[in-house]
Amino acid sequence: MAELLKGKEVREKILAQVEKDVQRAKKTQGVVPGLKVLLVGDDPASEVYVRNKARACERIGFHSEIEHLPSSVSQEKVLQQIDDCNQDDSIHGLLVQLPLPDHINEDRIIQSIHPLKDVDGFHPENVGRLCIGTPRFVPCTALGIIEILKYHDIEIEGKDVVILGRSNLVGKPLLNLLIQKRPYANATVTLCHSRTRNLAEKCRQADILVAAIGKPEFVDGSMVKEDSVIIDVGINRVEDSSREKGYRLVGDVKFADIEEKVQAITPVPGGVGPMTIASLMMNTWQAFKLQTGLE
Ligand SMILES: NC(=O)c1ccc[n+]([C@@H]2O[C@H](COP(=O)([O-])OP(=O)(O)OC[C@H]3O[C@@H](n4cnc5c(N)ncnc54)[C@H](OP(=O)(O)O)[C@@H]3O)[C@@H](O)[C@H]2O)c1
Repeated sequence: MAELLKGKEVREKILAQVEKDVQRAKKTQGVVPGLKVLLVGDDPASEVYVRNKARACERIGFHSEIEHLPSSVSQEKVLQQIDDCNQDDSIHGLLVQLPLPDHINEDRIIQSIHPLKDVDGFHPENVGRLCIGTPRFVPCTALGIIEILKYHDIEIEGKDVVILGRSNLVGKPLLNLLIQKRPYANATVTLCHSRTRNLAEKCRQADILVAAIGKPEFVDGSMVKEDSVIIDVGINRVEDSSREKGYRLVGDVKFADIEEKVQAITPVPGGVGPMTIASLMMNTWQAFKLQTGLE
């Protein structure tokens, strides 16, 4: 039976450490980190994510603000809000919850966030820093995956890692983290996408397989190597009339098909999901230290 790589206990450990650091900063410097989230429109999933971020901030002693703007808001108004936050000394981390309404240019918005406050790690300067091996803020899901592997003592160095999915959110930043010349990296990575040929064959080469494609239970038992480690990033809703809500959440991996075959696997839900907030808090703490000069 595979070891279950649960994210909750890793998240709790990280949050407890950051909370301790915050208390110390508050006592010695009289300041705490501040995180601001801009939410545009009424997407219910985004509203839940933003509420959870605010709750985590409150729990560990960060100052947090949510600015909720209507979906009809102009791009200029959003840019103005970002500019105000960039200049606000009480706000160390700023993120704009994605996706944005169609009339707002996502790239333009991301580029207007001050790179030292870009706790999502999406600003081109921070993406570039990660690529050249001097990371400042690492996108939260990719960072969370490394933290799960670290916590569970899964060796990465020298391993063959196959990542399914090349998004800016997950696949690309994870590739850039794993190929770095440093501890908890030094892997040999293959990044696959919808045009990859012989995908199953490539997956079977993986010591560590990461699935981040958004296709329910796509990876089955025939696609994984014996005793490999499986990181399932996917969160997909599938209809299930036996549940009160009428659906259940599944990953990109057919869990029941492979759990007997592999060494370890992240469950869905409860694996990578809980790590995103922990990473965001780590990045905000890092932003605070960079802006206040705190060691
Ligand atoms: N656990 C978490 O905290 C967390 C965080 C973020 C995302 N997610 C979940 O992770 C999944 C991926 O999210 P994302 O934002 O990275 O997705 P995305 O932006 O939609 O990217 C999907 C990637 O998968 C590739 N792909 C699609 N079908 C494929 C196939 N049949 N074979 C190989 N590659 C295929 C696409 O290839 P092309 O580039 O060729 O189109 C693309 O690179 C989603 O289920 C999302 O909900 C979870």
